[in-house]
Amino acid sequence: MPDPPPLAPALRRALVEVVGPDHLLTDPAVTAGHAIDWTGRFRGATPGVIRPGSVDEVAAVIGVCAAEGVAVVAQGGNTGLVGGSVPLAGEVVLTTARLTTIAEVDADAGRLTAGAGATIAAVHAAAVSAGWAYGVDWAARDTATVGGSVATNAGGLRVVRHGSTRAQLLGVEAVLGTGAVLRDLGRLEKDATGYDLSGLLCGSEGTLGVVTAARLRLVPDPPERATAALGFASFAAAVVAVGQMRRTLPGLEAAEAYRAAEAELVAGHLGRAPALRPPPPVTVVVECAGTGDQIETLGAAVAALDGVLGAVVADEGPRRTALWRHREALTEAVATLGPHHKLDVSLPADALAAFAEEVPARVTEAAPGARTWLFGHLGDGNLHVNVTGVAPDDQAVDDAVLGLVLARHGSISAEHGVGTAKRRWVARQRGDVTVAAMRAVKTALDPAGILNPHVLFGDGD
Ligand code: FAD
Ligand code: MLT
Ligand code: ZN
Repeated sequence: MPDPPPLAPALRRALVEVVGPDHLLTDPAVTAGHAIDWTGRFRGATPGVIRPGSVDEVAAVIGVCAAEGVAVVAQGGNTGLVGGSVPLAGEVVLTTARLTTIAEVDADAGRLTAGAGATIAAVHAAAVSAGWAYGVDWAARDTATVGGSVATNAGGLRVVRHGSTRAQLLGVEAVLGTGAVLRDLGRLEKDATGYDLSGLLCGSEGTLGVVTAARLRLVPDPPERATAALGFASFAAAVVAVGQMRRTLPGLEAAEAYRAAEAELVAGHLGRAPALRPPPPVTVVVECAGTGDQIETLGAAVAALDGVLGAVVADEGPRRTALWRHREALTEAVATLGPHHKLDVSLPADALAAFAEEVPARVTEAAPGARTWLFGHLGDGNLHVNVTGVAPDDQAVDDAVLGLVLARHGSISAEHGVGTAKRRWVARQRGDVTVAAMRAVKTALDPAGILNPHVLFGDGD
């Protein structure tokens, strides 16, 4: 997009008065990094990046922007994958980079309060120091933030055991579109007093408020852990096996799948042999954790499965790290092929295998030069359809994949959010009544319509 006009002098003065001159960045060489997303598909421009250092500064910044009708994109680690974290229409960017405090670590109750800009890795470290663990984890942990994870209701690798971010959330502090501060951090484990506004902000993708802190529930940190890579002839066989493990293995923490093509891509990227050689049609990485010998527990569960073509089992140590590296590096391996489309979807269990077999053909019908890379969180019915070899703004592939998802009664967004990438599809999945109710909530909390105005809602809904 062309460079947006510079900030009006009065607005600039007002913002500098709030955050100080060092925390309003306007040099295009500096702001450019905040205007392109992780995939390289979404590239915008901004007249300024604001770095408030406290909730009061966030409130004052939003108050100024609301009064002037200036649109704001909230940004955490900018690891979002749906074009929601970057200023695609010349918005100003509000980064939470300075809100990194982790406080009130309650080792007895198993909870902590984290600033929106704290990374997920920092939350893990604080939880472990207190003798606990944090139940949500994914490969971008060193960069992705608490605020971003709340805004997207991030899922990741442990959802099969602990649920998504919303399941960990005890409360949030957030600045609404009016500049008012919603202070909802002090809620108790059981509290049915009125609307769950923290839950509402979770998954709102920066359209209702800027999250400044979150109170997070911690989970026990099991002492023993075992991981395995299992081979299957098809997604159908893998889905049945994962269903059986979910029923019989209470400590199941992860069940992740990728195909032979992705196994070879990531092995080439890492310069290492694949986890299973030769890669089977489908590899499933499973992990269980608990007390007692987990290698034995996992081994017995695997021995009871039908259709396992080959297995590698590992406990703590380099072999386990290698099994996870092959799974976690899939995202960066696909990214080496250039800007690509990422379609994060979920399917009912009885439709998942057929979808996985059918979707590559639908992609090539829509775009003959395109290639599909498929992996995901099989335990949650969540697949990531990555498509390379298509122009960033070509919608034909997205329409083919998302159309198939809806025909199979799935969801067009499982864990990454809607962003700008999928907003045309929300009404088709959720229906007009739901979208009208969502718009009413948006208007109530952000009456000037300044918060991420191009995220979630499609033009013409
Ligand atoms: P950003 O990218 O900065 O923003 C994401 C959205 O949240 C935007 O709409 C933004 O406006 C909004 N936002 C950010 N901060 C705030 C705030 N404080 N208040 C209000 N709105 C805000 N996601 C998964 O769910 N599961 C995965 O397994 C997973 N794996 C990933 C692996 C890699 C290698 C990468 C690059 C990404 C992965 N992601 C995954 C996606 C991404 O990490 C998550 O969506 C994450 O929650 C984004 O956090 P962030 O801080 O980077 O947010
Ligand atoms: C993952 O599961 O690896 C993430 O959601 C990122 C991706 O979809 O590439
Ligand atoms: Zn994922």
